[in-house]
Parts: sequence; C-alpha cells; structure tokens
Amino acid sequence: MIEVEKVGAVQTIRMNRPEKKNALTDQMYVAFSQALEAGERDPEVAVHLILGSGGVFTAGNDIADFLTFAQGGKLGDGVIGFLRILPDIDKPLIAAVDGLAIGVGTTMLFHCDLVLASPRAVFKTPFLDLGLVPEAGSSLLAPCIMGQGRAFELLCAGRTFTADQAHAAGFVNEVIPDPDLEQQALALCADLSSKPPDAMRIARKMVRGSNVELKQRIEDEIDAFRDRLQSDEARAAFMAFMARK
Ligand code: COA
Repeated sequence: MIEVEKVGAVQTIRMNRPEKKNALTDQMYVAFSQALEAGERDPEVAVHLILGSGGVFTAGNDIADFLTFAQGGKLGDGVIGFLRILPDIDKPLIAAVDGLAIGVGTTMLFHCDLVLASPRAVFKTPFLDLGLVPEAGSSLLAPCIMGQGRAFELLCAGRTFTADQAHAAGFVNEVIPDPDLEQQALALCADLSSKPPDAMRIARKMVRGSNVELKQRIEDEIDAFRDRLQSDEARAAFMAFMARK
C-alpha cells in the first residue's frame, strides 16, 4: 500500500506492503502518482520524500502483475502514468533507501534530487534476467549519472550495487546508518522546504535542464517494454518466479 503523510511542508510517500517486499502493483502506482500530483498542487507541500518500510525500499514491479500484463498484451495504466509523471515533478524529490531497491526501486531514484541510503541498501535492476529492458528513462539517465560502463553493469548485466557502490556511481548522495536514516532524510527535507519555493523551482529546473528528450525516451522504453512483456523470454521468467517455491 502507499501511505501518504505530511510532516510540516514535507510530504512523505511510503511504500508499505511488507509481505511482498513492497512490490508495486498497478493500484499502488496509481496511488503513488496521485500522491505526487496532490503534493505538486498543494501549496503547503514543498518537498516529496519517498520511503520504504520494514527494512525494504521496494522489490520493484509486482511480477504477478507483469504476468497479467503479458497475458493481456499491454502494460498497466497505473505504471505508465507513474513513469510519465516522474519527469514533470516540479518540487524537490528526495528518497531514503533502506534495504532492497530493485527494478523501478532503483530507476525511480534517477529522478530524485537527493538520495540517502542505509549501509544495507542494495540496488539491482534484473531487467535482462526477466527478458525485459530498462524503463523510467533509465537508459538515458543512468549513463549520464554514472557513465556508460557502470550503467551497462547495472542495467544490462544486472549487477548488484551496494550502498557504497551506488554512492561512488553518483546516484546515492550519502550513506547513513539505518536507525538514523529517516530522521536525517526528514531533516534534510525540512531544510530544503525552508528555502524560497519559487527560487527552488526555477533553480531545480536549471539544474535538470530540458525534459523533452527524457520524456521521449520514457515513451520509447514503454513501447519496447510492452513488446518484451509478451516475449517468450519474459513469460518464462515470470512463470519461473511465480513457481519457484
Ligand atoms: N513481485 C511479486 N511478489 C514479490 C516480488 C515482486 N517483485 N518480490 C518479492 N515478492 C514476494 C515473494 O513472492 C514472496 O511472496 P510469498 O511469501 O507469497 O511467496 C514475498 O514477496 C517475499 O519474497 P521472498 O522471495 O520470499 O524474499 P527473499 O528475501 O528471499 O527475496 C527478493 C527477496 C526481492 C530478492 C526476491 O523476492 C526477488 O527476487 N523478487 C523479484 C524482484 C524482481 O525481479 N522485481 C522486478 C524487477 S523489474
């Protein structure tokens, strides 16, 4: 489930489905997008903070949903809406990652302005092992952030990055002991929220540059992802995951 709270001018969006390692269903993507949209509209919200729960950030897209999408020949509207909203966020987007960040759990971080992680955070995008391709603009953003070699390791070879490796790769700003992670993330967000919001919005836009190419890449990835979902390779991988116990 997605839990939304306001702490001062900080909106926290928490992925909380511990029995499934916070794997994101299509309904959860809808709730996630609605929270982001509501926070964008709300003048009392200055910063979004994304959190996991139970020592896990998220195990990524729900694989049972992937199987349903594969059988129906389409991607879910919830996930597509979520992917499309990421480049349009105007307020600072911060994440605090404790534990596993798999698939979109890692790629959504490339849209964040600051990412804090605990030492036990683990980043992995097993797209290829599932017969899939990178999403969420990661095929464009990851090489910009960490260089082509490391982006290939992460996105194509499916290598696991530790918190320190993610820090060295440039998509984690700071590694913070897990008991302090959320408090420090909230303090950081509170500090950001105290800055003049219009100046923040303008400066943030400058730092990020145009999002035109990013939006196009997200659409190209959605098309490729939709095709791959219906491939024999993907179907076999989803069935193997569902049947593994
Ligand atoms: N989709 C659906 N269910 C998931 C899931 C996912 N992405 N990730 C975990 N779960 C479920 C498991 O099926 C299991 O459910 P069950 O108890 O009803 O069988 C439960 O969450 C706990 O997961 P489990 O595999 O027992 O925990 P673990 O600690 O041994 O392993 C992971 C955790 C995340 C490493 C492993 O579950 C995994 O590899 N998940 C798939 C990740 C993935 O490929 N995501 C898609 C990326 S594109």
